[in-house]
Amino acid sequence: MIENQVSLKEYNTFGIDVQADSFCRFDSAEALQEILKSVDLKAQKYLILGGGSNILLTRDFDGIVLKNEVMGIHLIEETDEHYVVESGAGENWHQFVMHTLDQGWAGLENLSLIPGNVGASPMQNIGAYGVEIKDRFRSLKAFHLESGEVHEFDAAACEFGYRESVFKRRLKGQYIILSVTFNLLKKPDLKTEYGAIKGELEAQGISNPTIKDVSNAVIRIRQSKLPDPAELGNAGSFFKNPVVPIEQFEQISADHPDIPNYPAGEGHRKLAAGWLIEKAGFKGLREGHCGMHTKQALVLVNYGDATGEEIYAYSGKVLETVKAKFGVELEREVNIV
Ligand code: FAD
Ligand code: EPU
Repeated sequence: MIENQVSLKEYNTFGIDVQADSFCRFDSAEALQEILKSVDLKAQKYLILGGGSNILLTRDFDGIVLKNEVMGIHLIEETDEHYVVESGAGENWHQFVMHTLDQGWAGLENLSLIPGNVGASPMQNIGAYGVEIKDRFRSLKAFHLESGEVHEFDAAACEFGYRESVFKRRLKGQYIILSVTFNLLKKPDLKTEYGAIKGELEAQGISNPTIKDVSNAVIRIRQSKLPDPAELGNAGSFFKNPVVPIEQFEQISADHPDIPNYPAGEGHRKLAAGWLIEKAGFKGLREGHCGMHTKQALVLVNYGDATGEEIYAYSGKVLETVKAKFGVELEREVNIV
């Protein structure tokens, strides 16, 4: 059923109150095909919506919002090494991860508590604490809007990168992801070296962690610094961590030897955007109804009544100030609509 003039406030984690001209849900490729008999996507704007946790709505949406509610989690195959598990795009990501861990299927424990739905996870190759979905990804099925066919993509075809995939670039707007299939591990391969995970496990007195222990550690770390969208509107990291040429990194680190940095392929280093933003004076700096979070300067928060335009303008100021202070160009991670 197509609804008209629908508020999107409930459907985005920034809590921005804009209206969509029309809005409809679908729970299968067939249901989508049925909708497309009466809706011509060539003639109007459309937005594919999952959990709305990586978008910033800057104005009323004068088109149709298609909310993906394709459900179902299935173990489709077992090999010597893997449980091959397919999930509908509309499943909630964290609940899906919890389900896999409850079954003893390993591999997604470090990606616990990331908001949003399974269908959006390949869009930006979600990642946290040393793991990205590309590490456990097998394939996905996506509806090709132009032909009405369902196409299958393996990892190479998705062209995954750091917070990147082909669906954000070359094929932007051309496909609706219907399901994602993962190679989950029979024998866990725990990644506990990253950041605070080790410390958190030690603090709990755990020396031989299970996948559930790692997941619980990740959940505790995330809860200690990331704002809960139910309490404070946000979309996680607003910018990507910038990758800069090694010469530029050396120049910056000569003045700032404490700058956090990570390997990023030959001739490059990745810098911590949160550190740059904090040093540029924005951590906890509130202007009007928004600001960078007090505990994590990379997360832009809505204190309640911000408009999308206001948040976008504030993010522009952060970009300009970081560029002026460090010569580094930040790139927004959040999708601007
Ligand atoms: P949406 O916001 O609904 O959509 C995001 C984009 O994908 C839009 O362009 C949309 O059109 C498109 N899209 C959505 N579903 C489909 C589909 N089925 N087919 C085609 N296109 C689609 N991300 C990380 O990577 N790591 C983190 O650690 C992390 N932490 C976060 C913490 C918080 C508190 C928050 C609020 C966000 C965080 N994020 C993180 C960002 C976000 O959770 C992810 O990007 C998530 O995958 C977005 O899912 P979604 O369903 O909400 O996508
Ligand atoms: N830092 C500061 N000040 C801050 C925030 C961070 O100095 O206000 C420093 C930290 O001390 C640390 C470094 O920056 O040395 C990195 O910080 P953190 O470990 O919190 O991670 P991040 O780089 O800010 C990235 C992802 C997160 C992901 C975490 C954990 C991006 C853009 N963000 O954040 O993903 O959860 O690592 O792996 O890559 C998201 O994409 O929405 C997201 C939350």
